[in-house]
Amino acid sequence: MATDELDRFADLVRARRTHLLVDRDRDVPRELIDRLCDLATWAPNHKRTWPWRFASFTGQGRARLGDAFAHDMVTAAVGDEGKRAKTRGKYLRAPATVVVGCAAHPHPTFHDENRDAVAAAIQNLLLGATAAGLASFWSTPPVIDGRTTLDLCGFEPTDRIIGVIYLGWPTSTVNAPDRPAPTITRVEH
Ligand SMILES: Cc1cc2nc3c(=O)[nH]c(=O)nc-3n(C[C@H](O)[C@H](O)[C@H](O)COP(=O)(O)O)c2cc1C
Repeated sequence: MATDELDRFADLVRARRTHLLVDRDRDVPRELIDRLCDLATWAPNHKRTWPWRFASFTGQGRARLGDAFAHDMVTAAVGDEGKRAKTRGKYLRAPATVVVGCAAHPHPTFHDENRDAVAAAIQNLLLGATAAGLASFWSTPPVIDGRTTLDLCGFEPTDRIIGVIYLGWPTSTVNAPDRPAPTITRVEH
């Protein structure tokens, strides 16, 4: 890779920020969401299990997602009514939300590695979003294995939800949080 290409890639990686300062009324085109999900699938994947699952929520679909999570919170005894009320309205904060799920695997190592691959896929999606000029936000699902949300997403009952990704057109920028420099052990002889 030419140095200037690496510089451009470094700029893209550093430009990605987690934030929700977005125009709630400006849609994210479906074709763009599809393209970002396709980009996600180019992540490395041991055993080629293709474990990623995607579900896109826009319009009133976002409220249905909040309702499904709130329902699963009751079943899983997560949070109180205040938290559930917040969850119901949460996904309306951005014009599009992509739920990313992960398939189960019978072998414990590959089960874990499926999740690793999905995390890598999400980073692809986030970087693609950044390149497209979108703001993005990777959030933790309130419940990862609730039947109501998995059904709504069209996922299998054994799948897990790894991330809920908000996408929208930014209305402002945010500063990057400081990052400690990497510690690198060198073994050279
Ligand atoms: C697995 C995972 C789950 C996350 N869940 C949340 C979340 O629920 N709420 C939140 O505010 N940020 C969440 N984040 C985003 C982090 O807060 C964010 O990446 C971190 O603050 C660094 O900021 P940056 O992404 O702008 O570099 C999550 C990130 C990862 C990787």
